[in-house]
Amino acid sequence: MEKLTIKTAPIEGQKPGTSGLRKKTRVFMEPHFLENFVQSIWNGIGGAAGKTFVVGGDGRYFNDRAIQVILRMAAASGAARVIVGQGGILSTPAASNLIRKRATDGGIILSASHNPGGIDEDFGIKFNTPNGGPASEDVTGQIFEATTVISQYEILEAQDVDLGAIGTTMLGAMEVEVVDPVADYAALMEELFDFDAIAALFAGGFTLRFDAMHAVTGPYATAILEDRLGAPKGSVLNGVPSPDFGGGHPDPNPIWAKPLVDLVMGENAPDFAAASDGDGDRNMILGRGVYVTPSDSLAVLAANAHLAPGYKAGLAGVARSMPTSGAVDRVAEALSIESFETPTGWKFFGNLLDAGRATLCGEESAGTGSDHVREKDGLWAVLLWLNILAVTKSSVKDLLDAHWARFGRNYYTRHDYEAVENDRANALMDGLRGRLATLPGQSFAAGTVTMADEFAYDDPVDGSRSEGQGIRILFEGGNRIVFRLSGTGTVGATIRVYLEGVESDPAKLNQVAEDALAPVIATAEEIAGIKAHTGRDAPDVKT
Ligand code: G1P
Ligand code: ZN
Repeated sequence: MEKLTIKTAPIEGQKPGTSGLRKKTRVFMEPHFLENFVQSIWNGIGGAAGKTFVVGGDGRYFNDRAIQVILRMAAASGAARVIVGQGGILSTPAASNLIRKRATDGGIILSASHNPGGIDEDFGIKFNTPNGGPASEDVTGQIFEATTVISQYEILEAQDVDLGAIGTTMLGAMEVEVVDPVADYAALMEELFDFDAIAALFAGGFTLRFDAMHAVTGPYATAILEDRLGAPKGSVLNGVPSPDFGGGHPDPNPIWAKPLVDLVMGENAPDFAAASDGDGDRNMILGRGVYVTPSDSLAVLAANAHLAPGYKAGLAGVARSMPTSGAVDRVAEALSIESFETPTGWKFFGNLLDAGRATLCGEESAGTGSDHVREKDGLWAVLLWLNILAVTKSSVKDLLDAHWARFGRNYYTRHDYEAVENDRANALMDGLRGRLATLPGQSFAAGTVTMADEFAYDDPVDGSRSEGQGIRILFEGGNRIVFRLSGTGTVGATIRVYLEGVESDPAKLNQVAEDALAPVIATAEEIAGIKAHTGRDAPDVKT
């Protein structure tokens, strides 16, 4: 097998965003695009020689080709071993677990998460560090630097490695170990949760629907929920992964998982329903007649986690991304534990988890997780909910009502304006920046502004500072509006407007969020001039 050194030159646009490098699949398929980035990962982390990596992805279009390239490049750069999920498949949390459990030097995850897949859709690649988590801004910065000066990459000339059979083969001098993608992850879940209690729930007739959205969690959910815990066959929907996710948009929210929401709101609703995304790290939680917002889910899980064996000692602390509602903060206060507010993106939780300062973390974008891995974890959230329901013998609706009665309710909605021209989106944000100093003291339908700033985060563990993390406007009484631009889109800019209000009046805890937040929504428009800037009458997506 010959090692080839291929001349190349830097390619524009290889700067990783909120979660790795995401582009249209066809961009990744262009000559040298993937190879440049992979070589830059090796260059950015001080080389691949002698190292062990985990590689896997969510099975989307180009996953299989990209993995073969990565294997040949790892071998050419002297890596000792690559651990790959069978068929090239690993959910993001399962990859994080393997990176940690096998004490590796990190891993490469191929996914564009909840973005659609296919030759005309999205692809992505990201590097996770030995702690199992997404590379820090520091490391992604070094990788990006490497992409701007690259002049050559190394790749082995070789046949494809057979990833269909579990076992170890050689690629040049490198070992390729193909593992069952589900086994280690399922074992970890069994350590954390009371599987017998959950199995007893199903044996008692409790009904569940889990929508895998034709994405990576299909095999995981089938193995754990149906085969191990005894949920009846057919409880997992759309459980066979496909390279284009059945032509769908594998994002577990009320828009893209609408059939599931309709199911729980209908006459034959199951007791519990959930969905996960393309790579298995997001979750949506539903109960009969009720949708649980991700921010509420985080708060409910924080308040009840001690009911599951893995968390019976209690939580060290909790962390949420800044745009996530403050519901979990009040739980932390009641539990007398620390709560942290971090910028958007799971990578910011890594230090807090590593330092043992946070046990549970979450984002309003349907991400929840704990210190069991260093990624958010969709099925983990489902199992923790099931464990809590099994112990409390409560319905989802009753648990949520009791939670709001005790802590108050944070009404929450997010309005997204997608594929806005970059100039127009930047003009909206610049306009807001220009008004920050004068907003405090001004009164709007949402109340009087108490504070307005552009969020910056000082990491309490390593002291690093991250600026420009979204514009916050806080109002007297707890209303809040946040504006930020997405860092994961592949076309134009996506403006996200996060709208929140706090209610503790027992008579007002069961409103429709969009109604309860009408004054906040109107104020966002008044302050930012969204319609004028975007030329849009309404958001593309409300979640
Ligand atoms: C989005 C979410 C963010 C999440 C990220 C990766 O990023 O908002 O919470 O961590 O996807 O799943 P954004 O597009 O807003 O930058
Ligand atoms: Zn994801």
